[in-house]
Amino acid sequence: PVPPSERAIDTEPQYVDAPLTRAAGFLVLTINDGDPAAAKARSVLASTEDLIKDIQIRADRQFFTANVGIGQRVWERATGKPQPAELRPFKEIKGQTHTAVATPGDLLYHLRADSMDLIVEFEKLLLEAFGDAVTGVDDVAGFRYFDGRDLLEFIDGTANPIGLSLPAATLVGEEDPDYTGGSYVVIQKYLHNLAGWREQKTEEQENIIGRTKFDNVELPDAGADQQKSHKTLCTITDENGEHDILRDNMPFAVPGRGEYGTYFIGYSRHLWVTEKMLERMFIGDPPPLHDKILDFSKAVTGVTFFVPARQFLADLDD
Ligand code: HEM
Repeated sequence: PVPPSERAIDTEPQYVDAPLTRAAGFLVLTINDGDPAAAKARSVLASTEDLIKDIQIRADRQFFTANVGIGQRVWERATGKPQPAELRPFKEIKGQTHTAVATPGDLLYHLRADSMDLIVEFEKLLLEAFGDAVTGVDDVAGFRYFDGRDLLEFIDGTANPIGLSLPAATLVGEEDPDYTGGSYVVIQKYLHNLAGWREQKTEEQENIIGRTKFDNVELPDAGADQQKSHKTLCTITDENGEHDILRDNMPFAVPGRGEYGTYFIGYSRHLWVTEKMLERMFIGDPPPLHDKILDFSKAVTGVTFFVPARQFLADLDD
């Protein structure tokens, strides 16, 4: 048997529980074809910790963390290991009105920091290390908007699990012993129709979200056959109680191009929980009563990754 201390190190997660920060980066890459690209990707993945330390020590006391997620398409090529139990590609969900699209992405770097320079420096060193082994797919800079609001002007992240509920909701446990300490991650980039949203009365916006706008108080759930709020559609309960995920959504914008969005990122212990939320949002509950947030928010990407325990990455060099 492995001594408890070594077991703890083996299953220590990446920075899944890092707090919301002032700045965030969401870098999505694909790994190019061929053995040399796979070998290079594996060695860069193995050196993740070194790269993080390089930024952290130079950042003085400023906050910086990086998590890397690996997608199903390249799991075996990039790691040489069997797949985590629930890892599968993001499945397109076609509702009557809106579609959750599935888009390419083999690696996700989720970066959180006090300031953008740390994120840019990390990405620069990382991409230099990868060289021609990867292709950039998307790179989004998220920022904190006033008191933690999204660009629909609602406070985003309130119902996230805290304390002991946080690892219970986000980290794989004994159900998949090779991947204990890992986490499933789903990302979606949403673009908002802000002009349309602003035409709605505040009360209508509050009914769509399920909370009040100014002071963030929860509104009562709608009845079984009625139009449900975003909050209610994303509450998943069964005989084992409520199933939470951790969201680290960030606003992003390029006003000069009329682009205002929310980058959704959800960490979960069980991938099916996030998938179920998406199904309820896009198909509706009951169908076709989809989440009205989608009438003002278009999903333009959708990718699933697994964020393995820290030691799993370090061992890729062996
Ligand atoms: C709650 C915004 C997409 C899952 C909320 C809340 C806001 C919000 C303002 C209420 C406050 C809070 O608890 O954080 C958004 C925006 C989105 C988006 C602007 C994109 C346009 C998603 C997606 C999922 C999701 C794609 C899951 C797949 C949740 C969950 C809650 C929540 C689980 C908490 C429900 C509860 O009260 O237990 N969201 N969200 N959201 N959202 Fe979203």
